[in-house]
Amino acid sequence: IRPMGTIRSVPHSFKTRNTHKKPAVDLHEILPLDDESRALLEIAKAVRDKAYAKYSGFQVGAALVAASGQVYLGVNIENASYPAGICAERAAICAAISAGETEFTAIAIAGGDEDDTEAQTPCCPCGICRQVLSEFCPPEFPVILADGVYLLGGLLPHAFSL
Ligand code: THU
Repeated sequence: IRPMGTIRSVPHSFKTRNTHKKPAVDLHEILPLDDESRALLEIAKAVRDKAYAKYSGFQVGAALVAASGQVYLGVNIENASYPAGICAERAAICAAISAGETEFTAIAIAGGDEDDTEAQTPCCPCGICRQVLSEFCPPEFPVILADGVYLLGGLLPHAFSL
């Protein structure tokens, strides 16, 4: 360690090599969309039209699959008091948790001007939504975006927990 200023070095015992075990799956890998994930994306796109995005004009839809097999939907709902708005992903989580679900197997997110063609710009979930998803879903949880299947642990390493 070489701090700026007059002190040129300080003794330390920090490890210089990462000794953590590697996870079984590469959480940063982006998997190609398969038929099932495409179908879930279509559901997210369909519900996106119901978004209340009066202020940003950016509509988002989310389709969250519970372990029960039930799919819960969410859209972004904005508000004149901007911070009171909620994202589509958290709206879907609210619907699912309120229905008594506690385990989830995947979420698909469609946002903005994504059209029906391939290779669109993905609508990546915001940091707060990543943290909220991490409350209920493991690092291997698939987050299905327009350009592929991401894993939650890759999107949010070192999530906060109590
Ligand atoms: N938004 C979502 O609903 N989900 C995201 O993943 C990113 C952003 C919403 C919040 C706001 O209503 C609008 O998109 C523009 O930021």
